Amino acid sequence: MNAITGSLRGLDLHAEIDRLRRERNAIILAHYYQAPELQDLADFIGDSLDLSRKAAATDAEVIAFCGVRFMAETAKILSPDKIVVLPDMDAGCSLEDSCPPDQFAAFRARHPDHIALTYINCSTEVKALSDIIVTSSSAETILSQIPKDQPIIFGPDKNLGGWLNRKFGRDMLLWPGVCIVHEAFSETELLKLRARHPGAPVLAHPECPPQILEHADHVGSTKAILDYALSSPSQTIIVATEPHIIHQMEKAAPGKTFIGAPGADGNCNCNMCPYMALNNVEKLYVALRDLQPRIEMDEELRLGAKKSLDRMLDMAGRTVGRGDVGRPVFAAA
Ligand code: 13P
Ligand code: SF4
Repeated sequence: MNAITGSLRGLDLHAEIDRLRRERNAIILAHYYQAPELQDLADFIGDSLDLSRKAAATDAEVIAFCGVRFMAETAKILSPDKIVVLPDMDAGCSLEDSCPPDQFAAFRARHPDHIALTYINCSTEVKALSDIIVTSSSAETILSQIPKDQPIIFGPDKNLGGWLNRKFGRDMLLWPGVCIVHEAFSETELLKLRARHPGAPVLAHPECPPQILEHADHVGSTKAILDYALSSPSQTIIVATEPHIIHQMEKAAPGKTFIGAPGADGNCNCNMCPYMALNNVEKLYVALRDLQPRIEMDEELRLGAKKSLDRMLDMAGRTVGRGDVGRPVFAAA
């Protein structure tokens, strides 16, 4: 038993979280890759774009962000007057780690005629060095608004950038970052799984490498994958993204079978995001109780990053999409 768990023994954490959420006028936002228990506690669950929109639009005074650090930082950039807490400040992202701001600045300097279209999975510093931010659900809409002859740097995800290049016939210069979770899917094992379930569509996140994406029947953000899975007439569906999203699929379509795409050992559970997994109910309770760990940032840096995020919200549209799969905000306990 760790120190936090020991000191919280005997508390009804779900009831305590509900009490604190009301007392603090807090909203709990969660990404689809969070553990089911956290998803079920959230007021709003969404993909990166909808979570950004919700963070920008909420009237709550506190945002408790069940996701990774770049997502909580995005909430703070867009809602600077709110207290933003992240249950575990070590919840990073391999894509962010792959793109140190000084190296990204040097890369940009070597290509002065290029604009920087940058995936939201990056640090606040890299956002401030970028022209336009995209998420996996807004990248296509935004790229289609940029003239074909405009040279573009795309970072940090080479798989998402490569997929956009192939789909739209572009030749964006790609930063060589990857998501360690999506990189772990195995083409050989996916083909074996597909042979065992003929007709089952493969739904894949664009962070997957090309050898996985080429077998996908549908490529899209977490929310797009969820929507496709629910509207598909197929009863069995193969899901090539972080498997915690299957929780929402099973809740919304309990009669269907959802199978996580396998890694090299043929196991379907080897693709859990180790960063997302750092958050848990105990840490969420402590974050709401202590209003720590809190996201703080330099105001000049925030304003720099906000420019590229605002461009994303303007080009993608600011309306919050269908992500309210949790309880109504501030519901009675
Ligand atoms: P989405 O924007 O599709 O939710 O993706 C976030 C993410 O980190 C995927 O790995
Ligand atoms: Fe980052 Fe990949 Fe985890 Fe998403 S799943 S937060 S891209 S490491």
